[in-house]
Amino acid sequence: MARTPILAANWKMNMLRAEAASFCEQLRGLNEADRAPADRVSADRVEVLVFPSFPLLDTVAAGLAGGVASVGGQDVHPKASGAHTGDVSAAQLVDAGCSWVLCGHSERRRDHGESDEWIGLKVKAAQEAGLIPLVCVGETREERSQGQTLDVLKRQVTAALDGSSGSFELAYEPVWAIGTGETATPEMAQEAHAFLRRLLGDMLGAERASQVRILYGGSAKPENVDELYAENDIDGFLVGGASLDSEKFSAMMRSCARSAP
Ligand code: PGA
Repeated sequence: MARTPILAANWKMNMLRAEAASFCEQLRGLNEADRAPADRVSADRVEVLVFPSFPLLDTVAAGLAGGVASVGGQDVHPKASGAHTGDVSAAQLVDAGCSWVLCGHSERRRDHGESDEWIGLKVKAAQEAGLIPLVCVGETREERSQGQTLDVLKRQVTAALDGSSGSFELAYEPVWAIGTGETATPEMAQEAHAFLRRLLGDMLGAERASQVRILYGGSAKPENVDELYAENDIDGFLVGGASLDSEKFSAMMRSCARSAP
């Protein structure tokens, strides 16, 4: 089944408004008519998403208007509104121009003690508001060394999608590869992605499972995307560090667009 790849920039707690605006300008430039055709990246070849921190959402939504890329929040609270200081609701994200949201990123699990069940509530709140959750799962180094990787993935996916009714996409991000410069080998990543697709098949049926984009994240960069993307069940990338550099991110966009089905 041909799946349009997704290339997603997770800026984490980086960038100020001027930097964000200049990044968006560079992305827009990629599609200008005077660029060589090989350098152009059309939305039907690769779906590009940018996840900035909350204060940058307005700037990025305005900077990417016109279909260059979609914008998403890095987190969402399960409740629709109320006394939750520091949190942001799904409706507020939609209002700020978001169509996507990250749920369950390992840095949220680590820094904010988010449980699998709590993440499941976020996924549902996002879907109810019309956002597409990009659900992040992945094992720690210790879990991998103890042979628990597939059990951890199963537990995280099952809880995140419990009661989920709308669309979602998945990101496999081994925690030991995030921001470390250490990338999963294509074989390791493919094993996890194929497992996740089988699991989705058991939960949702084979046809639906074949449509879900499963992104790889963890030190993805221009030098390693081609070999990872060549694997059957890798449908794009959730990029942290390399997404802060528009040249590197553009190079990754071109790689995905070139190899897209
Ligand atoms: P990284 O981050 O590319 O810097 O490893 C990926 C992520 O955390 O989404």
